[in-house]
Amino acid sequence: MTDVVPPTALSEVQLRLLCHDDIDSVKLLCGDWFPIEYPDSWYNDITSNKKFFSLAAIFKGGIVGMIVAEIKGRTKVHREDGDILASRFPVDTQVAYILSLGVVKEFRKHGIGSLLLDSLKEHISTTAQDHCKAIYLHVLTTNTTAIHFYHNRDFTQHHYLPYYYSIRGVLKDGFTYVLYINGGHPPWTLFDYIQHIGSALASLSPCSIPQRLYRQAQSLLRSLIPWSGIASKTGIQYSRTM
Ligand SMILES: CC(C)(COP(=O)(O)OP(=O)(O)OC[C@H]1O[C@@H](n2cnc3c(N)ncnc32)[C@H](O)[C@@H]1OP(=O)(O)O)[C@@H](O)C(=O)NCCC(=O)NCCS
Repeated sequence: MTDVVPPTALSEVQLRLLCHDDIDSVKLLCGDWFPIEYPDSWYNDITSNKKFFSLAAIFKGGIVGMIVAEIKGRTKVHREDGDILASRFPVDTQVAYILSLGVVKEFRKHGIGSLLLDSLKEHISTTAQDHCKAIYLHVLTTNTTAIHFYHNRDFTQHHYLPYYYSIRGVLKDGFTYVLYINGGHPPWTLFDYIQHIGSALASLSPCSIPQRLYRQAQSLLRSLIPWSGIASKTGIQYSRTM
């Protein structure tokens, strides 16, 4: 493709689903973008199997970027990522796995990667609605550009996966990155439980166990600040970002 990309390229980009005729172009692009070799069946699958959301960014008739993702039940998550969601979510909860996201080198930093990711989110919100609780992917630990890209779009590192990839016979480490959506969250840690209990106790007062402590704190505050009617409103706010 061209090596002179106009600054307005994004405004000329169109989106369409991949089809069987794209296989040869997609093979060339993936060969360029990724150090991993995919079998022919993979290319057949992502261009024909309707379970994949395979979207191409087109500029002047040629593919300049693509995203491939699968929305699936939480029970179909890779074994190593089985703890992506807290167990309280029902078995029919869905997650989206990004198999591939790439943009032709000359077209990078023009907003095309973001456009593709946003289109996936839009697709999720129309098809899975709020049943999909997480978007996740795997990335080589050495792929700093992609890691920055995801990090800047609120994905967080979930797992370090030693020797996850085999690249031309050499084992390389990977990360799982996750973006929680629609109230999705990972299993709670001890810290989360402590926060939750604190929050519950705070919301109960003044009653039951904290009642006496609450009264004592109130009378202490009154003796220190006799005019203060707001003393009973003071206290730590407990919250958990979901
Ligand atoms: C990761 C990848 C898909 C990002 O694609 P991209 O098209 O460059 O993504 P964007 O242009 O939307 O965003 C990249 C950066 O360019 C910036 N950018 C976007 N438009 C810009 C413009 N007109 N001028 C300057 N910077 C711009 C974005 O703000 C972003 O920076 P930020 O992350 O600090 O916010 C791309 O680098 C790639 O294909 N890498 C190789 C394949 C790969 O590793 N894929 C991921 C495997 S998991």
